[in-house]
Amino acid sequence: MSLSLPVTPFDSGRLIGSVCEAGPSYVKANLPKAAKDSPSLRFGERMAGGQVGEFVFIECAAFAVFGRITSVKLPERDRLAVEVELGKSHEAHPVGNIQLIATLDLDSGRVICGIAEHPRLGSFVYSAPPALVSHVAERFGSKADAEAVVKLHIGSLPSGNHQPIEVTPERVFGRHCAVLGTTGGGKSYTLARLMTECAKHNSRIILLDATGEYHTLGDLAEHYYLGSPAKKPAVGTEVVLPYEELSELDLYALFQPSGKTQAPKLRDAIRSLKLARAAPLLATNGVIYKADRPRKPVVDGMNMHAAAINDPKAKFDVTKLPEQIPCECVYAIGKDFSTKPPRDDPAKYGVDSGEMSYCVTLVSRINAMLQSDALAPILRPTGKTSLFSIFEAFLTHNAKPILRVSLEFVQFDYNARELIANAIGRDLIRRARSGAFADAPLLVFLDEAHQFLNRSLGDEDTAHRLDAFDVIAKEGRKYGLAICMATQRPRDIPDGVLSQMGTLIVHRLINDKDREVVERAAGEIDRAAAAFLPTLSPGEAAVVGVDFPIPLTVQIAMPPERHKPQSEGPNFQKAWTAKRNEPLLTPELAKSALVVFEPEPMAEDDEIPF
Ligand SMILES: Nc1ncnc2c1ncn2[C@@H]1O[C@H](COP(=O)(O)OP(=O)(O)OP(=O)(O)O)[C@@H](O)[C@H]1O
Ligand SMILES: [Mg+2]
Repeated sequence: MSLSLPVTPFDSGRLIGSVCEAGPSYVKANLPKAAKDSPSLRFGERMAGGQVGEFVFIECAAFAVFGRITSVKLPERDRLAVEVELGKSHEAHPVGNIQLIATLDLDSGRVICGIAEHPRLGSFVYSAPPALVSHVAERFGSKADAEAVVKLHIGSLPSGNHQPIEVTPERVFGRHCAVLGTTGGGKSYTLARLMTECAKHNSRIILLDATGEYHTLGDLAEHYYLGSPAKKPAVGTEVVLPYEELSELDLYALFQPSGKTQAPKLRDAIRSLKLARAAPLLATNGVIYKADRPRKPVVDGMNMHAAAINDPKAKFDVTKLPEQIPCECVYAIGKDFSTKPPRDDPAKYGVDSGEMSYCVTLVSRINAMLQSDALAPILRPTGKTSLFSIFEAFLTHNAKPILRVSLEFVQFDYNARELIANAIGRDLIRRARSGAFADAPLLVFLDEAHQFLNRSLGDEDTAHRLDAFDVIAKEGRKYGLAICMATQRPRDIPDGVLSQMGTLIVHRLINDKDREVVERAAGEIDRAAAAFLPTLSPGEAAVVGVDFPIPLTVQIAMPPERHKPQSEGPNFQKAWTAKRNEPLLTPELAKSALVVFEPEPMAEDDEIPF
């Protein structure tokens, strides 16, 4: 046996059977111990001896083939042997199906992907010692992994003696990571566990917290929130995403100009407002009026201030957009009405009332948006700190491992959440492309990702794709930007994004369609492994992916008590055992939430109306 293995895979005390049928990716084995009513102990370690889900090693010359028992059954003639009947005892001959997963090279201790040598009939099957299962799980293929200093303790093997599983961040996040599972499966806890493990090292994480449940990260994180709640939260500082710092694509997604007319008019109006800022003398009350006015000053101004106007970050006053857009509805050549009939006048603009009518819907939409509270963090940012400058400071000073941006108070109207998350994603791509994360990788954690991904705004003709995270998934790896996202609806994540996820941590997943999506995304997770998904308990997860060729079931470790996300469901017991007349709200809350209507006392002779 190799010195690099912690224990031998072929311990005679763990022998549980022998191969009786061999196929390309499976074997069948006689597993006589499988019919015993309880697992046994070997040196204090539990040995199931032929239980579904158990890992096994099959002796094969210089190799040990690693596999997992996927089903066990009794031949028809032995079916009644396991019946408990007083005074009778039968010999049972259970047969198990074992899925072959990988090969352990006994000389080097390396784990090789695929089956290096196939088991023969009669080859012995041993129950895998837990220490060796974690060795196989942790040490897959790479020598660097074995020598790595930074490892994340993500959990332990659910059966056996809770052998810890530690993996390198490269394997978890190197090609992005998706945490999937139905509600209550343990996704948020898993994200919290991963973050607290990363925070033990010099890591940098930006967390988009859709529900505010991660405020418990406490002093591990800098806390910020978008939106203006009526009552300020206990932790965090309010920040904004000023419209002036959004890219043109994001502004288009925000205002959703439709048709062939609105988009060019919106672009022209933004350019004119930038000119109005650069050359205030050309503007009247911040707006550049064009209809029936000379073209020359505007054209000259545009040329003179071209650099400022073409700068995507140049400032402009968004509140003037509804006035400026109609001003763009002009012909390049105007009319001189002093002659009869009026003649063309190339020196001034002419009014195009047809275009103006096409822009009416855009103008009224923008007017409504300017008033909306949902978009206040974008369109009414004055006097508050920009999140983008917070990113700058976080990435430069590296004072805390996590920057948490809570979207808890961002409303759902006008797709504000998707727009904000997308704008954040786009800013991160821009930084990534400029090399900001080449030496110090950045992880973006995104819980409830289905709320933000795969969104397309507008109608079919003028769809605005909010695809910043899709781009990060596709390009981020080479720039040192990785996503770790959690979602309960894998089928809402675009196939293109999910297939880029190198690591999948799959909690309990009941829905067939979701399971299919996961099977498609992770080539390695075959039907047998997927069959375990609906039965996983909270916190248990199948860890699969390019760097985890063994679909391992891991009991993810709890995050530290004080950093557990606040994600409990409703407490029916407490709420429904309270007395009817006792308010559930505190007196102060009740006061602020209710408008108390006190009817005027009735005079005695008042008639009661029917
Ligand atoms: N690693 C774990 N070990 C044991 N129990 C866990 C673990 N993770 C989660 N749980 C239990 O499951 C519950 C739900 O976990 P969590 O909030 O993480 O679910 P979720 O998948 O994020 O759900 P949702 O999709 O609704 O946000 C927790 O309150 C906790 O009791
Ligand atoms: Mg959750």
